Amino acid sequence: MREKRKDKPMAGTGFRFMAFMFKFRDMVNPPEKYLKETTMKEGDKILDYGCGPGSFVFPAAEIVGENGKVYATDLHPLAINMIAKKANKKEITNIETIQTNCATGLASNSIDIVLMYDVIHMLKEPKEIFAEIDRVMKPEGILSVTNPHMRERDVITKIVENSDFKLVKQGEKTFSFQKK
Ligand SMILES: C[S@@+](CC[C@H](N)C(=O)[O-])C[C@H]1O[C@@H](n2cnc3c(N)ncnc32)[C@H](O)[C@@H]1O
Repeated sequence: MREKRKDKPMAGTGFRFMAFMFKFRDMVNPPEKYLKETTMKEGDKILDYGCGPGSFVFPAAEIVGENGKVYATDLHPLAINMIAKKANKKEITNIETIQTNCATGLASNSIDIVLMYDVIHMLKEPKEIFAEIDRVMKPEGILSVTNPHMRERDVITKIVENSDFKLVKQGEKTFSFQKK
């Protein structure tokens, strides 16, 4: 992780409180509803960028199955620890954790779907992060985004102004972007 980047982990208590609150969020808005809009399927390679405690990581791992993979990526060590521990306990082998605030170390053009849920309002240097997502995503890949902290048009503007992605679909829960 590059230390001089502006994106830094939130306090541990804040992260734990967020993880607790997400249990209620996920009861009201089940993660599966979001994932359905991405057209995710068996065998896909998924990058969950800013995965937090893993609400979307585990349902995605179930959909992609043993031939697929979910890369759970976050800058917070607690996110990485929580997900690794849960995956280990449940003997789930298609989840890999990556602690980073930008560079993923993944191969170029290797990812089918990138999830960025409730993250972009936190990004201090969005251009570099979207460039990394663009690099790892396959040419026909999908960047699936939602953000309850921003107005819909601001979500679209932030992505379009800081990346080479274009909006291709608006679902009930998510926006889908693709490379131009
Ligand atoms: C509000 S949480 C959302 C977590 C998850 N996507 C969800 O909706 O359940 C945002 C997460 O993004 C992470 N994050 C913020 N900036 C980041 C960055 N530059 N790189 C990686 N993760 C980042 C935070 O640590 C936090 O876990």
